[in-house]
Amino acid sequence: MIPPKPVPRPDKVSLLTYMRLFRVDILSAQPARLYRAWMAEFRTPFFRSYMCNDPALIDLVLKTRPDDFPKSNRIREGLAPLLGNSVFVTNGPEWKRQRRIIDPAFEGGRLRDTFPAIRDAGTAAVDRMAQGPVEVEEAMSHLAADVIFRTLFSIPIEHHMAQAVFHEFRAYQRTQPILNLAAFLPLPRWFPRLHRNATLQSARKIRALITELTETRAAEIAAGTAPDDLATKIMQTADPETGARFDTQEMVDQVAIFFLAGHETSASALAWALYLLAIHPDVQDRVAAESRALPEVPGFADLSRLKFTRDVFRETLRLYPPVPMMVRENTKPETFRNRHVKPGGQIVLSPWHLHRHERLWDTPDAFDPDRWSREQTRIAARDAYMPFSAGPRVCTGAGFAMVEGTLLMAQLARAFRFDPIPDDIPTPVAHLTVRAENGIRLQITRRA
Ligand code: HEM
Repeated sequence: MIPPKPVPRPDKVSLLTYMRLFRVDILSAQPARLYRAWMAEFRTPFFRSYMCNDPALIDLVLKTRPDDFPKSNRIREGLAPLLGNSVFVTNGPEWKRQRRIIDPAFEGGRLRDTFPAIRDAGTAAVDRMAQGPVEVEEAMSHLAADVIFRTLFSIPIEHHMAQAVFHEFRAYQRTQPILNLAAFLPLPRWFPRLHRNATLQSARKIRALITELTETRAAEIAAGTAPDDLATKIMQTADPETGARFDTQEMVDQVAIFFLAGHETSASALAWALYLLAIHPDVQDRVAAESRALPEVPGFADLSRLKFTRDVFRETLRLYPPVPMMVRENTKPETFRNRHVKPGGQIVLSPWHLHRHERLWDTPDAFDPDRWSREQTRIAARDAYMPFSAGPRVCTGAGFAMVEGTLLMAQLARAFRFDPIPDDIPTPVAHLTVRAENGIRLQITRRA
């Protein structure tokens, strides 16, 4: 059974139609040929964009000369009211300094310390989960938010501050259902970027709440009573080059992006993973069996025994990469596959297309977690798989997210059976993350 894939648009459409489709969803706005092309150029009156599926070009942009392909200012402008100057939107020396302070908190050794908080969020989700038909995107959003609060600030989602942030984030997303189109669709520079009033208000409230959490934490650090979690670690880390630490405003920017980048993405991946398990009961049984072989309260070392579960999560990220596309801008003249690219081109890297590329993968649209243990997948895994991006700007939370996704899926599959609801087939759509158009409903039964 081939899992759901959006219907591509016809090859040739007018700019107006393209913009309209884009507004609905960037995946169905693209033509089918992108699943076979090495590169595609889109010409519009305002800009040119180049989608690159050629692994050599992706390497050039993300790994060989990333400084020549920064994130465009439009992305920063679109997200500034909420994210300020967070690591997600900055470039150059400012971005490098921020990464020097943040990265140590996410290193392998630290993941061991973070593990119990992730597991406790999983246990709470198992206790909370309803039986019967359940909309799992919502349930996974709740769970992924719980993980972020527990790992960053040592508070569960039930804490009043966590509740307030979580609810305000939802309000923010509702006011801005496509998370600011202008950030993704390169409009001419003179085009006014109006932020809706409600969006601005919501962003302000979220930042006020996060400021309170951050200031409280700063006081606890000063008093020597701070818990040893990600927030404490980041706030105590000095830049090895300058010795400076984040001030409160900078920390608020980073917390906002950890919350946004870390919870929407993981929630999307987990919800699709559960759907894929539901429509592949044989795979689900294998995941449940692997999980049942672990101790009742698994420890960090037990993760290495969840090999198949990890491959299921990997395969989910291949078919439904939560971040479907990334955009960069070239600052110098470039030659891409014999085509001249003037500075200011929008360089689109698309995990969505790359992961389903017909020349790079066998049976690209099939759900086949066993492919990850086959030798012939090695090249595609290296050249055509980047759910977390690649190079120095790779997702800071990549290791964290792999632990989180694998462990939570195991905990859920051990406790419950997931079945599809007849004729209720989710359609993937992409705004900033890949979601189902009308949610994902599954029949959930607690296992004996
Ligand atoms: C399955 C889960 C996740 C996926 C698929 C994912 C994917 C990505 C991708 C593709 C990027 C690069 C975006 C771009 O360059 O335009 C990114 C960046 C980022 N992610 Fe994740 N992410 C996930 C979870 C997390 C978590 C759990 C955290 C933190 C707790 C996190 C924090 C970040 C940050 C801070 C950046 C910006 C890095 C930079 O620009 O230097 N992500 N993520």
